[in-house]
Parts: sequence; structure tokens; C-alpha cells
Amino acid sequence: MKSEKPYFNKIKLNSHAEDIYSKIGKNESLMSETDHGFLCGLLEKYKPQKVLEVGVYAGGTTIAILDMLQRLGLNDSELYSVDLAEEIWSGKEVGYMVQEAGEYLGSIDNFHLYTGVTAAEVLEEITGDQKFDFVIIDTAHYLPGEILDFLACYPFMEDGAVVVLHDVLLNQKDKHRAAATKTVFDIVVGEKIWNWDMEEYPNIAAVKINSDTGKYIKDLISALSLSWYYNPGDEILNQYRKIIENYYDEESLAIFDKLVSLNMQWWEETSACVHKTIGDLLNGLLSNDGKQIFIYGTGRVGRVYFEYLKENHLAERVAGFIVSDDQNISDSTIENVTVYHLSDIDYNKERDIIINAVEHPVVSEMLAARGIKFIKLSGIIKEAVLLRA
Ligand SMILES: C[S@@+](CC[C@H](N)C(=O)[O-])C[C@H]1O[C@@H](n2cnc3c(N)ncnc32)[C@H](O)[C@@H]1O
Repeated sequence: MKSEKPYFNKIKLNSHAEDIYSKIGKNESLMSETDHGFLCGLLEKYKPQKVLEVGVYAGGTTIAILDMLQRLGLNDSELYSVDLAEEIWSGKEVGYMVQEAGEYLGSIDNFHLYTGVTAAEVLEEITGDQKFDFVIIDTAHYLPGEILDFLACYPFMEDGAVVVLHDVLLNQKDKHRAAATKTVFDIVVGEKIWNWDMEEYPNIAAVKINSDTGKYIKDLISALSLSWYYNPGDEILNQYRKIIENYYDEESLAIFDKLVSLNMQWWEETSACVHKTIGDLLNGLLSNDGKQIFIYGTGRVGRVYFEYLKENHLAERVAGFIVSDDQNISDSTIENVTVYHLSDIDYNKERDIIINAVEHPVVSEMLAARGIKFIKLSGIIKEAVLLRA
């Protein structure tokens, strides 16, 4: 098919998108400089009045948005940010960076943060008479993830709204199953905006919805038949179902119900199988040498590794959890297993094996620099652990 016009429109990156980080001397955003340039380039072009951000984490991107709205003179534009979690991995509150950046941001009366909830749960209440003309979705990345979030947000979008989708190529980096965002980008009909040919990994894209979007929205509902990689649970699924029931037609609801029930059936059958595979792999990795096991990291990921070790009868070999020497130990034991500082364990490579359960590369680098041998689980095990965490 030949076409005169490029299919993917490009956006000029905004070069001031990250100025806020140099002011506060810190950046805990999960988006890159290029991603922020793209997002803020879109804010600059479309000058939205009401922005919705779904997936906040530390609030690193939230402050870039707030700063850019002010820089563009859009002081009356509102930002609503929603996150399912209340805390991030370090125990800090979701969105905490907005407080930290407070003195550099000026008035943030236009900012509204909702944590511990899904968009499906709060959108009716927060939208009121004015729908959103700019939406950023950056949530689970694994199916059904962003498919559900897009379907929940769609009824609350203005005609012509811009929907920014982050991590559209995460599956090409290190999380091969994380394809939910790209699935949404490819299926939703509208004007596609993607700097796909940049040298830098083009991990962010947008769809500007139009009058065709609604005509083909059932394609996205239909995509719920793709195999899910996590189970959101009945309570959360019901929140999304309510939106479909209230804002979509009867056929949409019937398709939704059918595909959710197929996936739940699939989930029951395969989760037992996934657990068994992980068990076999863990046993294969850990059982032959009889070494004592330490888990580096006391966050949710470390605790999930411990759960898997317990389920696979390896718990009695877990000699402790480890945290870095400069970190405070808040709980001296976790389920009766002692938490040590790294230098307390007097590491011996013949005797000890360490599972590194901290995702940040700084820990791997530090352990390697000290000549400490560790295993960092990857592939299916890592993904299964992260999804359970
Ligand atoms: C990748 S992080 C967001 C990063 C953030 N946009 C940034 O640039 O720093 C994903 C966030 O989405 C949240 N999340 C996951 N599923 C969600 C859902 N269904 N609704 C709302 N938030 C969700 C997680 O708690 C997490 O904080």
C-alpha cells in the first residue's frame, strides 16, 4: 500500500521537559529524557485544559507535567493523577516527589492525586462536566493492563483528546511479555504519533482520538482474549466491568464478560503450571550445592522470592535477608529470618549463595565490585516474581 503521507506523525521534543530535575537535584521518574521531551512536546502542541495521568509511581513525571503546564502559561489547566498503589517500593508515598518539588513548582492548586484506586473506580466522580483532553497511561504493561485502563478512560475523553502511552516497546528491552501498551497503541483507531525512527529507543507514543475511535473500540474489547499475564482480581475487574456496563453497549458488555471468563479459566489452569515450572527452575539452580541462601533486598520482590522458596521446600536453607550497609534495618527479622547488613554476613563463596532481589543495577554493580557471587534471576522467573510482587 503506497501512501503520500507518513502513517506515524512525529512530535518535536520539548527541550525544557526536564528542567525541574536540575532545580531539585533529583529525578525518580521512570521515563527517560526523550520520553519526557515527547510528552512535553505534545503538551506544548495541544495545550490541554484537563489532564489525566494514570500510573504515577514516585511522581517524577507528574512534576515534569506540572512544571511544563506552568512554563506554557497553562495555569488554569488541571492535572488529575491516579495510582493503584499507595506506596512505592522504598516505602515512600506514591507521588511523593510533588511535595519535594513544591518550592520550585509554584502553586499546585490545579493538582489532584488519588492513590490506592484504579481509574475505573474514580473517573465518574472526578470527571464532572468537563472531560479530559489529554491522558497519559503508564500502568501495568502486562496484559490485560493498559487495555482495561484505556477502556476505562475512553468514555471520559473529549473528542480529539491525546492519549500518551508509555513503554510501548518494553517487550523489546528486558520484559518480553510486557506488550499491553503497544497492543493498545496498535489497536485503537485515531491519529498515531510516534517518533519510531529515532536512534534512541522510541518507547513512548500517542493516539489522538477522533470520530473513528468509537466506531472501532470493540476491537480493543475483543483484544481482551489475548492471554493475560496477571489476574487483577474480582474486585478490580468489577470496577472495569461497571464502566463497560454504564458507558458501552450491551454487545460490548457481553464480549467483555465472555473474554474475562475465558481468561479466568485459563488463569486457573496455567498458574499452577507456572508455579511448578518456577519451582523446578529454582530447585535446579539452588538445590545441588546445599549452600545457604541469602536474599538481597527486603522489599516486596525479596519477599516474593522467599514465598517461592518456601513453596519449594527451600525455606530452611534461607539464612537471612541482606540490606546494604548504609540502609537502616527497620525489621530485624522477616518471618523469623534475620535481616543482616551486607558486611555482617562475612560472605564465603563456598558456603553462601545470594539471590539479588533488587532490580536497581547499583546493587549488582556493588556486589560484583566486592567479588561477591550472586544470582539474579531472569526471564520467566523474574517476570513471575515481579508480577506477584
Ligand atoms: C511504570 S509505573 C509509572 C511511572 C510513572 N509514570 C513515571 O513516569 O515515573 C506504573 C505505576 O502504575 C501503577 N498501576 C499499576 N496498575 C494500575 C492500575 N490499574 N491503575 C492505576 N495505577 C496502576 C503502579 O502502582 C505504578 O506506580
